[in-house]
Amino acid sequence: MKLTTKLLAATAMISASAASAVELEVTHWWTSGGEAAAVSKFAEAWNATGNTWVDGAIAGSGGTARPIIISRILGGDPMGATQLNHGRQAEELIEAGMLLDLTDVAEAEGWKDIVNPPTLLDACTLDGRIYCAPVNIHSWQWMWLSHQAFEDAGVDVPSNWDEFVAAAPALEAAGKVPLAMGQQPWQSSGAFGVMTIAIAGTEAWLQVNRDKDADVAAGPEYTKVFEAAVTAREMAAESNVQDWNLATNLVITGQAGGQIMGDWAQGEFQVAEQVAGEDYTCLPGLGVNEILDTAGDAFYFPKQDDPEIEAAQKEMAAMLLSPDVQVAFNLAKGSLPIRGDVDLSAANDCMKKGLEILAGGNVLPSGDILLSPDTQGQVEDLMVEFWNDPSITAADAQARYAAIIADAD
Ligand code: GAL
Repeated sequence: MKLTTKLLAATAMISASAASAVELEVTHWWTSGGEAAAVSKFAEAWNATGNTWVDGAIAGSGGTARPIIISRILGGDPMGATQLNHGRQAEELIEAGMLLDLTDVAEAEGWKDIVNPPTLLDACTLDGRIYCAPVNIHSWQWMWLSHQAFEDAGVDVPSNWDEFVAAAPALEAAGKVPLAMGQQPWQSSGAFGVMTIAIAGTEAWLQVNRDKDADVAAGPEYTKVFEAAVTAREMAAESNVQDWNLATNLVITGQAGGQIMGDWAQGEFQVAEQVAGEDYTCLPGLGVNEILDTAGDAFYFPKQDDPEIEAAQKEMAAMLLSPDVQVAFNLAKGSLPIRGDVDLSAANDCMKKGLEILAGGNVLPSGDILLSPDTQGQVEDLMVEFWNDPSITAADAQARYAAIIADAD
């Protein structure tokens, strides 16, 4: 090849890659230490393709971020990609035709064969078309216990909810907050959901959340849950923190006995270099009912009417599910990968417990999949009031809850 031809070829290559290098702004609410460590795995992988990840982190967790994300899309200021929980949060945006259809990517990449459990892809699908890329399985069904706190209190680390409740006086006597609980509405509402599945059982939870059966919500199984919630409220009375990760930090530093929180808490223990089984214990299903709900995160790509951006959006969608990216991201995040064909030998004890439960098929759909954002908002409002006002009895709260379920769609 003559030198000039070589140069021409090189120039052509450079301009080709420059033409395909796209900046995509990606919005998400991953701002705690563990979350930031995890999202950087996506950013690194994306930047390694020659494109640029423009980080659009929104502080304050999902409750704050989601309305901002949705109003930007509706208001004509769409980002390149955004995190949401897969489920019903994007339903209206899809119906309004504002999100990119990813069905061709999903078919080319074989998502139907690899995404496990299949409900995660179903949650991205409307009228047979796929609109999101699921990136992880997060489950709410965990309790995190501080070994330090129980050692200081002179009691064994509990192995279930009843033992935890029984240990509360010893924790209090040792100056600990028995139960860490942040003030953001979704936290008490999520903890209530976990107590429901553990205490009322899977069947009752499905009857209420899937079938919207208000009689079950008003019935005796749920009475037990509201009574347990009163106990939990007393145990959390001195927990004066706002953000979920600050509540997790009370557990990490031994100031609190435990926290009911989804497995994203695991990212915080990791950043603090704590070891599962040595420094902390995780109890799936409060040690009572070992089952995981399969909530999680997915990426949606608002339509931009620009073929170059659209191509980059589809490239990112495929990348998010690729095996190496799945492993790196989920190990940092504390979530489980959405594909079973990846090497997770590096998983810690808690993730391994989660993987076993998943392999045994002991899973439930998440509340995000079953309940509309409106119903979820009403439950959150009730829980905030209930957790902050000890004069609201278990019976009052249960009656109000049953009325919300009676109206739920
Ligand atoms: C959830 C999300 C998790 C986690 C958590 C706390 O909605 O699925 O990835 O980040 O919020 O921010």
